[in-house]
Amino acid sequence: MTESTTPAVRRRARKAVIPAAGLGTRFLPATKAIPKEMLPVVDKPAIQYVVEEAVRAGVPDIVTITGRSKASLEDHFDRHWELEQALERKGDEKRLKRVRKSNDLGDVHFVRQGEPKGLGHAVLIGKNHVGDEPFAVLLGDDLIDEGDHLLEEMIEAQLKHGGSVVALMEVPAEQINLYGCAEVEQIDGETSGVVRVKGLVEKPSPEEAPSNLAIIGRYVLDPSIFEVLERTEPGRGGEIQLTDALQERANATGDGAGVVGVVFKGNRYDTGDRLDYLKAVVRLGVRHHDFGDDFRSWLQEWVTTDEGKGNEKRA
Ligand code: G1P
Repeated sequence: MTESTTPAVRRRARKAVIPAAGLGTRFLPATKAIPKEMLPVVDKPAIQYVVEEAVRAGVPDIVTITGRSKASLEDHFDRHWELEQALERKGDEKRLKRVRKSNDLGDVHFVRQGEPKGLGHAVLIGKNHVGDEPFAVLLGDDLIDEGDHLLEEMIEAQLKHGGSVVALMEVPAEQINLYGCAEVEQIDGETSGVVRVKGLVEKPSPEEAPSNLAIIGRYVLDPSIFEVLERTEPGRGGEIQLTDALQERANATGDGAGVVGVVFKGNRYDTGDRLDYLKAVVRLGVRHHDFGDDFRSWLQEWVTTDEGKGNEKRA
């Protein structure tokens, strides 16, 4: 019997894994008693933006991988009866709607990681929930601007090319050591910014880096990644790295193998980084429907003052 060359019918990703077990050490002491995912960006915790993005992209069945001291995440996506009743009694419909939105979003489940053994291990914890179908991974630190449709494009790229998909973004060469880095090549006939990933390396030095294309926190993965993660040895930092498992898939052939990259040119905010966090607050703040215009006017005026210009204060 000759082997069939017809590819199996591809399934669209419907589920998402959000790893949220990290300690948030870059943001101490703010994250000593509060999970970094709960830091407010304007008036919502960072994780709510990520869950909203998953729902918008059509992957509303979400499993969040948490750890110790992350109970507030579960509370946030649960109902808060006392609060709702109090707002109802006051007739405060506007705030009631806002409070209900966080628990009406998607279908958010929680599983604990147990031991902090790295991103690859956190994704593997999601295996039972995901099952045998392609799935999205969204890192809670990375906010992708609402106006960009990165995850949707990645889900489409996975349907078209099969295998797994990573999100890539150009970064300055001296920052590549903070990211997974991809070696890529053009795909014949592909005009949409999707590239073939030939190799991946986790947090290389600028000298070792094959490019300045960094992996950012969105993935669409073929379920065959689980079997690879199960046998992936700890890599950089002594952790089980998702990048290492993807490197194996990039070089493999057969069902579910291969990795492509979607090169992102939109706005991404790393809310785990203090400076980027402030930028995110300002950019999302000036767009806020309630007070964005007032905030923008204030900012415009403030930057013209001595304090705004960074001049010495007058005596
Ligand atoms: C993780 C991944 C890395 C990726 C980064 C994106 O690193 O291991 O490959 O580039 O997320 O934010 P972390 O930031 O958890 O150290």
